Amino acid sequence: MAGSFSRQDVAAVARVIGERRSVRSFGDVAPAREALEQILAAGLAAPYAAAMAPGVALDRRFFVLPRDSKALPAAAAAIQAHAAAALAAGGLPAPLRARLEPVAQGRILGVGTAPYYVVVAERASMATVQQQSLAHVLENMWLMATALGLGLHLVSATTQMADDPAFCGILGLPVAEYALNGCAIGVPAQTPEERPVADVAGAATWLD
Ligand SMILES: Cc1cc2nc3c(=O)[nH]c(=O)nc-3n(C[C@H](O)[C@H](O)[C@H](O)COP(=O)(O)O)c2cc1C
Repeated sequence: MAGSFSRQDVAAVARVIGERRSVRSFGDVAPAREALEQILAAGLAAPYAAAMAPGVALDRRFFVLPRDSKALPAAAAAIQAHAAAALAAGGLPAPLRARLEPVAQGRILGVGTAPYYVVVAERASMATVQQQSLAHVLENMWLMATALGLGLHLVSATTQMADDPAFCGILGLPVAEYALNGCAIGVPAQTPEERPVADVAGAATWLD
């Protein structure tokens, strides 16, 4: 409810936002299932573009792939094969090729390098808003993970897997009906580099 937050609450929100970082190195111990559930609940609370799909209920799903699950190596193999096929097809711009090459060699940051790889899926009738919606989901999850002292980084390669039969089969989703994105979650094993304090005055223009 508007206005029902204390100054300490507001300061805590600002601190969580300020401390959110990409964490790409994790300890071996997996965070508790309850913590994961809190993170997923935060994702579920994120906005979605209801106006773009009148009458269609939100269909947002989460798939948690623990590092020691059977699903994880299968998902990694599907991502690797997908990247290899994209490279073999050719015609990709150099920066994308450079990003896909390690993936095609099986080096997929976040899929096997973290205690949990989480895939978020959302069905929407408007392709243009699907990834926007998923970005809100992931930001909510990221902030909750930060508040819980956990580390998270995005695994953008997941977005390419929505039309991959092997990957969708592992999740039990129909092919090409859900937009996908993903992230890796674990206990941080690194302290991210300091970053400069945000220059709000320099970034904002106040119009008359
Ligand atoms: C659309 C988008 C996609 C991203 N994809 C990845 C990714 O696949 N893997 C990764 O480790 N980081 C990914 N990032 C994270 C950025 O590299 C990171 O947010 C940026 O370097 C700033 O660092 P910070 O998150 O610590 O503030 C992505 C960020 C955005 C906005």
